[in-house]
Amino acid sequence: MGGKFKMKKFFSKLIKSKILTASVLSLGVLAFTSTMAFAATGPQLFSSDGCIACHTINGKGGSVGPNLSHVGSQRSLSWIKTQIVTPGAHFASGSTVTINGKSFMAIMPNHKSMPKSQVNTLAAYLESLK
Ligand code: HEC
Repeated sequence: MGGKFKMKKFFSKLIKSKILTASVLSLGVLAFTSTMAFAATGPQLFSSDGCIACHTINGKGGSVGPNLSHVGSQRSLSWIKTQIVTPGAHFASGSTVTINGKSFMAIMPNHKSMPKSQVNTLAAYLESLK
């Protein structure tokens, strides 16, 4: 009788610990996949935030604004961050500006409500384009 009881206890402990392990594991998987889902990459943000409608990178995108394929060789990281959040700090809104020998109407929208992490990811990506 005593032996049976011990076995039961042993198995219930084993099952409990397995359940615990399984739930810890699945929590980990959940955390991992949600991080993956929310941490969009620079190129993804460039599309999803609409930059691509006005800017071309490597042959893809619009031409309302300057081509950004090599923007990192001309602009610093902090300059690019400022440009994304408040373009008016660099170019008077509505004026005609010349960038890389081409004329543009300065109409880039500001992105004051863009989460800082997105601004940082986008700026780091653009700065890497040499
Ligand atoms: C409606 C069109 C439009 C959209 C959308 C737009 N831009 Fe612009 N962008 C421009 C124009 C026009 C300029 C020229 C200067 C200005 O308007 O401030 C510019 C300038 C820039 C520059 C400076 C380039 C250089 O060589 O000096 C960067 C960097 C830039 N944009 C990044 C972005 C990013 C990143 C996004 C998306 C979050 C974005 N732009 C969205 C039109 C746009």
